[in-house]
Amino acid sequence: MRRSVLLGTGSALPRTVVTNADLAERVDTSDEWIVERTGIRQRYIAEADETTSSLATAAARAALDAAGIAAETIDLIVLATATPDQTFPATATRVQADLGCRGGMAFDVAAVCSGFLYALGTADSMLRSGMAKRALVIGAETFSRILDWEDRATCVLFGDGAGAIVLEAQEQPEDEASPRGILATRLHADGEHNSLLYVDGGPSTTGTVGKLRMKGREVFRHAVVNLAEVLQEVLEETGLTSDDIDWLVPHQANARILDATARKLNMPVEKVVVTVSEHANTSAASVPLALDRAVRDGRIVPGNLVMLEAMGGGFTWGASLIRI
Ligand code: UT7
Repeated sequence: MRRSVLLGTGSALPRTVVTNADLAERVDTSDEWIVERTGIRQRYIAEADETTSSLATAAARAALDAAGIAAETIDLIVLATATPDQTFPATATRVQADLGCRGGMAFDVAAVCSGFLYALGTADSMLRSGMAKRALVIGAETFSRILDWEDRATCVLFGDGAGAIVLEAQEQPEDEASPRGILATRLHADGEHNSLLYVDGGPSTTGTVGKLRMKGREVFRHAVVNLAEVLQEVLEETGLTSDDIDWLVPHQANARILDATARKLNMPVEKVVVTVSEHANTSAASVPLALDRAVRDGRIVPGNLVMLEAMGGGFTWGASLIRI
């Protein structure tokens, strides 16, 4: 049986840290409000010379180093982003050129905050079907470029960054008791909720880039319900229970959503990787950033069962279970 096995993780953050106190000088907010409602204490914001592709390339290089493989051996790059360098070509092709790998496939996936899960599911299908052998799956964003810095309800919530993983197609015995790699991925979308989380611009409508708009309270409500459902689906598909999961690596939108999701899964908070306080919501980058953090600090080790999940604009949402 062919599975997509994780060979390495990497991440990259912009140079500049912006604290809640810094934001309180620009809009009518406070460190107390932001920490209490979201758990966020700071975020990294890209300078003019830092782009989605430069962050993605740095994260990809770190993942390749961790995997101990050369960039030329990558034949598939799937990059999740809602903030591409250009409307086209895909930012993945810029990353491919910057890494120095040629000839394989490279394309972007647009599913906003759940983009990394969609990219992972896509790459996994292509690896298992034999279309590719080694893939880079990247989530990278410069959300600071699409924020309305006058809108306190949204500008305090997001940050910039990138995370990447290397996957390789490997043959494993059908009856392997503890198979490594991606065990199951479930993805969903419900386009009815466009107006709750969207950008008010685009090439074919306004001809502008636009700014992010969100009805936070409604998104919050949907997130808790949708995430609990999709996590249950993945557990049912794999015949596992939440007790079997070593680590939950959730999308980092709000500490209260993380707590509520862990509670619904009956998972102790000690098993949840939380980076929202430091990174804020980095959209498609948030799951691979958190994953890389927990791999590098030694929490996540080979053999661990790790559940990834995310929910975002569209709405789109999904979850994936991986044995490291
Ligand atoms: O990644 C994609 C998915 N996105 C999410 O998952 C985000 C989900 N939503 C959330 O995380 C939360 O809904 C927010 C953090 C966005 C907001 O928290 P909330 O507890 O739902 O607050 P709220 O929107 O109901 O606003 C409460 C009050 C309002 O004032 P009034 O109307 O009660 O007088 C807001 O105007 O807080 C006010 N407020 C602020 N006050 C200080 C909103 N933003 C701020 C702010 N500083 N930055």
